[in-house]
Parts: sequence; structure tokens; C-alpha cells
Amino acid sequence: MSPEAKILTNDNGLHLKSEAKYFFDFDSIDDLKKITDFAKKENKSIQIIGSGTNAIFPEYFSDVVIRSTNNDFTLDDAGDRVSLSVGAAVVWDDLIDFCVNKGLFGLGNLAGIPGTVGAAPVQNIGAYGEEISNFIDHVECFDLDTNNQVRLSKSECKFGYRKSIFQESDNLIIVSVGLSLLKKFEPKLHYQDLKDHSFTDEGELVETVRNIRNRKIPDPKDFPNLGSFFKNPTITKEEYEKNSKLHELKSYDSDNGDIKLSAGEMLDKLGLKGLQLKNIGLSNKHALILINCAYPNGVCTADDVKHAENYLLNKVSDSYGITLEREPIYL
Ligand code: EPU
Repeated sequence: MSPEAKILTNDNGLHLKSEAKYFFDFDSIDDLKKITDFAKKENKSIQIIGSGTNAIFPEYFSDVVIRSTNNDFTLDDAGDRVSLSVGAAVVWDDLIDFCVNKGLFGLGNLAGIPGTVGAAPVQNIGAYGEEISNFIDHVECFDLDTNNQVRLSKSECKFGYRKSIFQESDNLIIVSVGLSLLKKFEPKLHYQDLKDHSFTDEGELVETVRNIRNRKIPDPKDFPNLGSFFKNPTITKEEYEKNSKLHELKSYDSDNGDIKLSAGEMLDKLGLKGLQLKNIGLSNKHALILINCAYPNGVCTADDVKHAENYLLNKVSDSYGITLEREPIYL
């Protein structure tokens, strides 16, 4: 196998200007072993990418960049559940359609999320009251440190809100994801946006979720974006009570007594919706979503993102005394 030089500007969610000097597609563990040999010889690290819908790409990748082409689906009956192993390269929303067609239940609330299956566990994708971790049995990886395949159980993945072990472990390359899905339609409808709906099947749920997303989130085709740019903060009840500025915001009780706030509402209340900072803007539709304002003719880079991020972090910290946490990852 030999690498190619590749322009990645159209291969990341924000369409940031980006290129890689050493790029490989891989399909198998065998491919990964060959790529590892190459990287060792060249004294380079390896950076995995998916479709870049939750990643901030640098202008130049000096390391070896790899992307999975594993589009396999393997189904197995497992009593009252169904085991489904899905290749890392499968488009997440194609998996949603596959499940609807095969009568596999559980993932409906996560319809419409951009990105690949391999990237989904990294940030533990979540929406409308559901998270992928609730359906993960294991994640199949290749360990760059040992050059071996390794299977992480759900508990070894250390999932939390938009969090997993994969964000800290650069050595783990996800090759496929093992899901445990339901045989019956038992939708979770407690989330505000779904509460007043009733659904007879997964197809209806999926269609509704996609419609809600389309209403709230700018279409990435016209307004390149990475979804929510910051996580929603959680603080203790004492912190909340001491800080009267927060009382103008909606607040939600979380299970352990902490208070959850909406980062989008904070940015909106500060009048930042629609603001443009260099070539990054805050969507007019949703303040938490940063978009590439230079698209399609101009150039936007990771430096523009960093600039906007720092500006917004300072604004929120100065006004609300809250330090927001970024959701997407800089590569
Ligand atoms: N809000 C405003 N102004 C705005 C945007 C939002 O006031 O410009 C308010 C809304 O009115 C609402 C609250 O903020 O009261 C929350 O907004 P929304 O329901 O749109 O959800 P969110 O908290 O911004 C989260 C996830 C999304 C997920 C939706 C639905 C995070 C960081 N984001 O968004 O996930 O799709 O809930 O479950 O948890 C993502 O992670 O990339 C993502 C899109």
C-alpha cells in the first residue's frame, strides 16, 4: 500500500481548508498493519478520520491520515435482542434506514445525525433523549500500540455525556461497532420535542425526528457546520443559586440534583445569533451552531474556528461565570 496526497476541504463538516500529505483508505486489519509499518518507517503518527462532522481539521496534516472503507453489516439473533455489527465507514443515517427496513428498534431518536458509524461512539452521539451508548455492546478496534485487534466492552468505552475513552486514546482505531438492538418498538418519548407525538412504528419516529432536526439545525449542505459547538453545561444547585445571572435562563434538573443549562440559550441571550467572527458565524437558526460563512467561494480555516471559540468562551464566562466545554475535537 502506498499513500496519496489528498485535499480534505470537502471531506470535513465545516469545509475547512485542509490537506494531507499521506492519506490511506483501509478496509481490513491487514491494511492497518501495513499502514502502521509505513508510519513507523517515516516516523509519523496515525490520525483516523471519519467524515469530519465533529472534527476541526487543520490546514495541513503532517501525520498519516487514514479512513475506513468498511461498509459491512452482520446480523445475529440474540434472544430478545438482535446483535448487529456495523462497519466504521457506514453513514450513520444509512444505518437508521437499514434498521427501519429490517425492523430493528432503538436508534430512531438518533435519526438525521451526520457522520459515520465509526465516529458515533467517540462523542457518544445523542439526541432527543437517547444516546448510542444505550445500544452498544462492544466496539471493535485496532490498537496501534500493540498492532492487534482489540474488542472493548461497553463499560470499557467509559461513555458519558458526549464523552468516551476514544477521545483520550489516540492508539485506538475503531473498525466496527457492535450494537444490541430491540425486537419491539418501545420508543423513548420523554424529551420535550417528542412528548406530544404518538407513533405507531419506527419509520414514523425517524421521519419526525428528521423533520425536527431540519427545522432547528441549519442544513449542512448550504451552511457547513458541526452540530452543537459547545456542550450544555451542568452545575451544582449551590452554584446555580449563588449566580443570579443564571436565573434568567431555562434550567433543567438532572438525575443527581445538578442543574443543566442550555449553551445555545446563553449565546442567544447575549445577542450573538447571526454574529460573524472572521469566516465563522453563529447560525441565525440556532446560536450553538457555528457555520462556515465563507462557503462555497471563500476560505475558512481551523484558525478562524479557534478565534471564534475563544471569543465565545470569554463572552459566556464574563457574562454568566460559566466556562463552556467544546464538543468537536481539533485534529
Ligand atoms: N435555544 C435558544 N436559542 C438558540 C438555540 C437554543 O434559546 O439559538 C434554547 C432552546 O429554545 C431550548 C434550549 O436552548 O430551550 C435547547 O435547545 P435545543 O432543544 O435546540 O437543544 P440543544 O441543547 O441546543 C441538544 C444537543 C443536540 C441535540 C439536541 C436534541 C448538545 C450540546 N446538543 O442541543 O446535539 O440534537 O439537544 O436532543 O447536547 C450535537 O451534539 O451536535 C447536537 C446537535
